[in-house]
Amino acid sequence: MSDRSDVVMQVNHLHIDYVNPEQVRLHAVEDVSFQLRSGKMLGLVGESGCGKTTLALALMRLLPAAGRIVGGEVIFHGRDLLDLSEREMERVRWQEIAIVFQGAMNALNPVMTVGRQIAEAIRAHNPLFTAEQTRQRVAELFDLVGIAPERADQYPFQFSGGMRQRVMIAMSLACSPSILVADEPTTALDVMIQAQILELLEALRDRLGLAVVLVTHDLGVVAELCDDVLVMYGGVTAEYASVDRLYNHPAHPYTRSLLAAFPNLANLADRLSSIPGYPPRLDDLPPGCRFAPRCPQAFERCWQEQPHLRQVERGHAASCFLVEGA
Ligand SMILES: Nc1ncnc2c1ncn2[C@@H]1O[C@H](COP(=O)(O)OP(=O)(O)O)[C@@H](O)[C@H]1O
Ligand SMILES: [Mg+2]
Repeated sequence: MSDRSDVVMQVNHLHIDYVNPEQVRLHAVEDVSFQLRSGKMLGLVGESGCGKTTLALALMRLLPAAGRIVGGEVIFHGRDLLDLSEREMERVRWQEIAIVFQGAMNALNPVMTVGRQIAEAIRAHNPLFTAEQTRQRVAELFDLVGIAPERADQYPFQFSGGMRQRVMIAMSLACSPSILVADEPTTALDVMIQAQILELLEALRDRLGLAVVLVTHDLGVVAELCDDVLVMYGGVTAEYASVDRLYNHPAHPYTRSLLAAFPNLANLADRLSSIPGYPPRLDDLPPGCRFAPRCPQAFERCWQEQPHLRQVERGHAASCFLVEGA
């Protein structure tokens, strides 16, 4: 992660709150930083509720109404996306950064053919396209994601889950973005189909030179596909490193617990149950380290003080007092 030349996005110290109906602020993401590199995949990993989707949506400034980005920067092509007007942001969204939303493959319009749904996505951004240009682009996108062109006239119910996810990926690529965020793209698909969708994302990364953010709760998937990995816990960065580094020298007890929950990376179906206990609730965060209540190595300081991110070595950081450092 040391070569800066291919960095397409640099996220610095991002803070995101949700404001609940009683106007109480919940800190969903705190001080998260990372970079995206073209042609590389970043795995954003952690248990459910740790802030992955919140972070993913914030990159496109598509947070739900209760969400607020309260600090940090999202630098893209030398500009902070958080400073852009909504109008300027519209030119970045989908054209430069696209997302496959969590669960979106179940949200296709049931009464419109998939070809037409993709055509509408293309036309929304290219109003001057002729019918023929649009048709051609649909065919290109189908080819890119491995759907036979004659299926354009079929309806979503005629597609399997995996095929519907391919449609969603095609739609996200309609405007040739340079960054693709895929939020749990294989959850709810069976293992064989999961592997095919992940292979597709890998192929798209390589063929199109995309910077991909793969949101997942599965470290096994990250091991197979990703170049870099950000492990989140309770809205903060537990650990950030290259995949090689993380697997060979995990520094955070949470990462080590996650790895221990996947004893056999070669056979992902054969996994142990996850870590005992639950991640913290945002309205009930422990005063010290958020992982302390589940940490086998917690000591007194962990219960009193929140550990900030410490450098383990260049390109590898973890927020744990056990890491020697500044
Ligand atoms: N619209 C919302 N309003 C209030 N809180 C939310 C909203 N969306 C998510 N949250 C809270 O933010 C935290 C992170 O959620 P999320 O980003 O969806 O996590 P993940 O994708 O890792 O499962 C959770 O505690 C969740 O309850
Ligand atoms: Mg999510």
